[in-house]
Amino acid sequence: MSTSSSPREPAEGSPELHDFVCDLARSAGEVQLSRYEDPGEIREKTPKDLVTEVDYLCEELLISRIRERYPEDSILSEERGGSISGNGRTWFLDPLDGTANFSRATPLFCACVSVAEAGRITHAAVSAPRLGDLYHARLGGGAHRETDGRSYPLRVSGTERLEDAFTAADLTFIGLGSDPAKAPFREVFGSSWQLRSLGSAGVRGAWLAAGYLDVSIGTRNTAWDYAPTVLLVSEAGGEATDLSGEPWTPESDGLLATNSLLHAEVLEVLGGR
Ligand code: IPD
Ligand code: CA
Ligand code: CA
Repeated sequence: MSTSSSPREPAEGSPELHDFVCDLARSAGEVQLSRYEDPGEIREKTPKDLVTEVDYLCEELLISRIRERYPEDSILSEERGGSISGNGRTWFLDPLDGTANFSRATPLFCACVSVAEAGRITHAAVSAPRLGDLYHARLGGGAHRETDGRSYPLRVSGTERLEDAFTAADLTFIGLGSDPAKAPFREVFGSSWQLRSLGSAGVRGAWLAAGYLDVSIGTRNTAWDYAPTVLLVSEAGGEATDLSGEPWTPESDGLLATNSLLHAEVLEVLGGR
């Protein structure tokens, strides 16, 4: 899967499907808002990886609505797992992104819904209900932020030098000093003007598309986190690849998204192309 063109790939996403994608993300966001400051039971899946009752509620809502309307589609969702279709449609769901924030009523959390068709991300919606924002993008249709019933086009920043950049990542700093694999990231942060850690990969990608951030780095293999960023950022004029500059795929171990102007400079510091 990539964001580049090839003959088999769709040139754009359908407006009708897009409305459904946005509606799904909004609905999960409403559930989150209704349970703000009331996350229910909070469990550690693995150390420092949290899940709340609200994660499961949102996931149930999203999956049941997709199954009802598109029973043949594949779904890969954070808590329930699933599969990626070889040539059909796949839904990537992060029912509640920013769970650690949500668990302590920090406002940066969201619901992420993305669709891949014939090897491309064609639709993405990120609903951040406590901010009152829905960020969404349709392949070939641009990226937008909706707030208070109004829609605003998203455009990445014009920052040209890493030393002027706001670079965003959520890295665990325990072991950062001693782990040589993390040294290149420390190098990027040290070359930037400021580091931003938001606690939500979905909001981070949307804010890059909106021009609030210049560089976003993700270091995991969690397609539900990164698929929305890939489309939002590319439709807003930026660039998204894996950490070595190759096209991002759901199998990639990380994501580098930038305003495009900074992509080559960051890759050079990371030791990529
Ligand atoms: C996490 C957040 C966090 C990122 C982690 C994700 P979750 O998602 O997006 O910012 O650093 O890699 O797992 O678990 O809250 O959905
Ligand atoms: Ca997530
Ligand atoms: Ca999640």
